[in-house]
Amino acid sequence: MQLRWASVSKMHQAVLLTLLLYSSLQAQENSFTINSIHMKSLPSWEIPNGYSVTLECLVDISTTSKVRSHHQVLFYKDEMLLFNISSTEYTESIFIPQARVFHSGRYKCTVVLNSKEKTTQEYQLLVKGVPSPTVTLDKKEVTEGGVVTVNCSVKEELPPIYFKIEKVELGTKLVKQIRDKTSNQNFVVMDFPIEEQDHVLVFRCQAGIMSGIQMQTSESTRSEYVTVQESFSTPKFLIHPSGVIIEGDQLYIKCTVQVTHLVREFPEIIIQKDKTIVATSKRNIEALYSVMATVENSGHYTCKVESNRISKVSSIMVNITELFPKPKLQFSSKEVDQGKILDLFCSVPGIPSVNFTIQKETMILSQDQNFSKIAEDRDSGMYSCTAGIGRVVKRSDPVHIKVCEMLSKPRIFHDAKAEIIKGHAITISCQSVNGTAPVTYHLIKDTNVFLDRMVTSNDPAAFTDEPIEDVEYQCMANNCHSHPQLYSETLRVKVIAPVDEVTISILSSNEVPSGNEIVLRCSVKEGTGPITFKFYKENDDRPFHETTLNDTQAFWVEKQASKKQEGQYYCTASNRASHSSSPRSNSLTVRVFLAPWVKGLIAVVVIGAVIAALIVAAKCYFLRKARAKQKPVEMSRPAAPLLNSNSEKVSEPNVEANSHYDPQNKDDVEYTEVQVSLPAPHQDVVENRYSRTGNSLDGT
Ligand SMILES: *[C@@H]1O[C@H](CO)[C@@H](O)[C@H](O)[C@H]1NC(C)=O
Ligand SMILES: *[C@@H]1O[C@H](CO)[C@@H](O)[C@H](O)[C@H]1NC(C)=O
Ligand SMILES: *[C@@H]1O[C@H](CO)[C@@H](O)[C@H](O)[C@H]1NC(C)=O
Ligand SMILES: *[C@@H]1O[C@H](CO)[C@@H](O)[C@H](O)[C@H]1NC(C)=O
Ligand SMILES: *[C@@H]1O[C@H](CO)[C@@H](O)[C@H](O)[C@H]1NC(C)=O
Ligand SMILES: *[C@@H]1O[C@H](CO)[C@@H](O)[C@H](O)[C@H]1NC(C)=O
Ligand SMILES: *[C@@H]1O[C@H](CO)[C@@H](O)[C@H](O)[C@H]1NC(C)=O
Repeated sequence: MQLRWASVSKMHQAVLLTLLLYSSLQAQENSFTINSIHMKSLPSWEIPNGYSVTLECLVDISTTSKVRSHHQVLFYKDEMLLFNISSTEYTESIFIPQARVFHSGRYKCTVVLNSKEKTTQEYQLLVKGVPSPTVTLDKKEVTEGGVVTVNCSVKEELPPIYFKIEKVELGTKLVKQIRDKTSNQNFVVMDFPIEEQDHVLVFRCQAGIMSGIQMQTSESTRSEYVTVQESFSTPKFLIHPSGVIIEGDQLYIKCTVQVTHLVREFPEIIIQKDKTIVATSKRNIEALYSVMATVENSGHYTCKVESNRISKVSSIMVNITELFPKPKLQFSSKEVDQGKILDLFCSVPGIPSVNFTIQKETMILSQDQNFSKIAEDRDSGMYSCTAGIGRVVKRSDPVHIKVCEMLSKPRIFHDAKAEIIKGHAITISCQSVNGTAPVTYHLIKDTNVFLDRMVTSNDPAAFTDEPIEDVEYQCMANNCHSHPQLYSETLRVKVIAPVDEVTISILSSNEVPSGNEIVLRCSVKEGTGPITFKFYKENDDRPFHETTLNDTQAFWVEKQASKKQEGQYYCTASNRASHSSSPRSNSLTVRVFLAPWVKGLIAVVVIGAVIAALIVAAKCYFLRKARAKQKPVEMSRPAAPLLNSNSEKVSEPNVEANSHYDPQNKDDVEYTEVQVSLPAPHQDVVENRYSRTGNSLDGT
C-alpha cells in the first residue's frame, strides 16, 4: 500500500487532491452504506513458525455515486492500533514474511466512511512452534570444581522467553542438573559448576514462549561436548600391619591421594573414625594415623580429600583382635554399712598372669587383685580396676559404692500449739539428724502408715494433715543401712471441735401459766468442752445467765414464772476454738399468762374489800348518827380510818398490775399493799429478789 502511495508522482498529487475534494463533495450529496466487513488470513489463521502470512480486511460498500468511496481502514492487534490507511480499495492487507510467535494475537479491522463506521469481529492468528534455540559454551575442557558458562538464545523471537538448560552426563543420559529462567532478552547465560562425578558433559537447551494462556516450546538443542579433568584422585587407604592386628600392635592408617598439575593448591586430607577426626594433612599428598591398637580402634575409617566444592571419600573397616577381655570389679555390696568390711576383687576370666590395680576415682588403692577395709563414711565413691598385659591396659566398668551410716532415732514435732482446731492443717515433721541420705520417712497415724516421703538430706520431712479428732502420730525412718527401720516417740495431738449449731428450747409449752417453772435449754450439736453457754433476753446486751460446762447443753431454771419472764430468748455457746464470735442460737418466744385460780383469788379479794368498805361505811353512818345525837361538833375527827379504807379501793388496779411478780406468794401481795404507802423501799426489795436475772427484767 505504501509502495503504491510512493509510486504516485508529485505531478499527479495536485490532480488527485482535486479529485478527492470533488469526491468528498460528491459524497455529501451521494449516499454511501457499508454493507459488511470481514477479515481473512492467507493461507490460514493457524500457521507454522517462519511461514509467510497475509491478513486481509475486506469491505463491501454500496453507493449512489459513480466514483468509488474514499474511506479509512484501521488494523488492530490485541486492541492496539497497528495500521491506519486512507483507501478507495475494498481490500486492504498486511503482509508478514516470517510469522513468529509474537505475531500471534487477536486481529480486527475497522472501516470509517464519513461518519459511518463498521468493525469486524476479532480473529485469532496462531503461529505454531518455537524456533530451536542456539547453544554455545565458553569452553570445551574443564577441571573438577570449575564452571561452564552456557549461552542459549532464540534470535528470531521477542522476549520474554523461558529457557530450560540441562546438564547431562554423556553416555549415562543422566540429567545431573536443571536450571531454568524466564529472560527479558532473547537469550540467557547460565553457569554450571563441575562436580567430581562429571566426566563428559553435554548441555541441552529448550525455549518456551507464552502464546495466549499456553506455553509453546521448542525442540531441545544440544551443545558440544565438554570433557572434565580430575583435579585429584579418589583417596586410597594403606593399613599396617597388614593381616591380623592384635591389641598392643602399633597400628598405622595412611591415606594417600594423587593430585594433577592443574590444581593450584593441595586439597586437605582428613581421616575420620565415625564422627571423630583422627588425622589431617594440608600440604601433603598423604595423612597418617598411628596408634597402639586396642579393641576400641576397631571400626569404620573414612578418608576425605576436600578442595573447594570437590570432596572425594573412601572408607575402610579395621578389625583388631582382642588380647584379653576387660576386667570385672566384684564387690560385696553396693551399699556397705559403716564399720563393716568393704571387699573389692578384680579379675580377668581365663588369664592367670595379669597386673592389676584397684582405684577409687583417680587414686590407686591397691596394686593387687583384691582390696578390703573397714568402711567409713568417706569411702563412698566410684571404684574401678585395671588389668594390664604388657602395654595393653584395660579398665573395668566403674562401680558406685555407698557407705551407709545408721540413722539416728527420728525426732517428731509439729508447728501447731498444744491443741489444734478441727479441720485446721497441722504440719508434722520427722527428722533423723544423723545417717546417710536419702532417708525415707513414713508417718504413722494411729497405727496405720499414713504418708511416705523421701528426703535427700538430713533435713526434716514435712507432712500435712487435717485431723478431726484427737490423734497420735509416729515417724518411721529408713535408709540404705541394713538396720531395720527406726521409730520416733509418739506425738499426741489434741483436736478441739468448734461449737456448731446452737439451739435454745424450752422444756414445756411456750405459753407458761404464771407461777409455773420455766426451764430453758441451750445445746450444741458438736463442740469440745468446756463450753461457755450464755442466755440472753432479746435486746439486752448482757446475758442474764452464764455457765461453763463439760457438756453440750446447759439449763436455766426459773421456779415461778411471772409476767417479767415473758419475752424472746436466745443463747450463745463458745469454746477455745471460737475466737471472737460465739455462735448464736435461734430466738425463742415465751409467753406467761395468769393462772385461772389467781384470777378467782383476785376477784375474791376485790369483793372482800368492797364488802369491808361497805361495812365500814355503814359503821360510820351509824356512828355519826349516834354522835350527832350526843356531840355534833366532833364530826370531822374520825376521818383518818376512812381515808385508809378509801386507799384500799384505789389500790385495786395495782394489785392486778403487780400480780405478775408472783401473786401466789402471800408476801408479795403484802408488799403490793405496802407499795402504795412506801413506794421507794419496796422497789429495792424487788430488785434484790431478781438480781440473779438481771436489771433488765425491771423494765418489762
Ligand atoms: C487515521 O489516520 C487519519 C489521517 O491520517 C486520522 O485522521 C485518524 O485520526 C487516524 N485514526 C486513528 C484511529 O488514529
Ligand atoms: C549469547 O548469544 C547471543 C546470540 O548469539 C548473543 O547475542 C549474546 O550477546 C550472547 N550473550 C553473551 C553474554 O555472550
Ligand atoms: C573381625 O574379626 C572378627 C574375629 O576376630 C570376625 O569375627 C569379624 O568378622 C571380623 N570383621 C571384619 C569386618 O573383618
Ligand atoms: C586376695 O584374695 C585371695 C582369694 O580371693 C586371697 O587368697 C588373698 O590372700 C587375698 N589377698 C589380699 C591381699 O587380701
Ligand atoms: C607386670 O608389671 C611388671 C612391672 O611393671 C612387669 O615386669 C611385668 O611384665 C608385668 N606383667 C604383665 C603380665 O604384664
Ligand atoms: C550425730 O552425730 C554427731 C557427730 O557424729 C554426734 O555428736 C551427735 O550426737 C549425733 N546425733 C544424734 C542425734 O545421734
Ligand atoms: C472438764 O473436763 C476436764 C477433763 O476432762 C477437767 O480438767 C475440767 O476441769 C473440766 N471442766 C469443768 C468446768 O468441769
